[in-house]
Amino acid sequence: MTSIKKFLIINGPNLNMLGKREPEIYGKLTLPEIIDYTEKLLANKCLCTWYQSNIEGEIVTKIQDVISTDFSALVINPGAYSHTSVAILDALGILKIPIIEVHLSNTHRREDFRQTKLTAKASTIIMEGLGKNAYLMAIESQLL
Ligand code: DQA
Repeated sequence: MTSIKKFLIINGPNLNMLGKREPEIYGKLTLPEIIDYTEKLLANKCLCTWYQSNIEGEIVTKIQDVISTDFSALVINPGAYSHTSVAILDALGILKIPIIEVHLSNTHRREDFRQTKLTAKASTIIMEGLGKNAYLMAIESQLL
């Protein structure tokens, strides 16, 4: 019997404001609603631990903590830290499990400053523009 896969899903700054935050870009659902939606569609096929922080150092520590866990993969939406954080890039570089970086919006169609993705250098897969399906698709990519 194969053991059930475990995922850590990290959301960075301002993703706790989904629903209120630029709904024309990020959609109308709040983060708890996206989590609910994702969990329902996953139908207990895996175990998900969801984490959100607005603080760079807390995200770095959470990533470091993965080392002593049995998570099968990390899904991360670093938010704006994707464009700026060498510290998060370095922490991701420590991990040996697949890292799937997601962005709800398609940043390629947005401002120039969003075209730099520091954290993507440590990511195995990058998925963008899937909106509320971003986390679901990222997790499913590891269940095939
Ligand atoms: C985002 C894109 C980032 O540029 C932005 O700073 C975010 C959200 C996304 O999910 O589309 O906070 O990561």
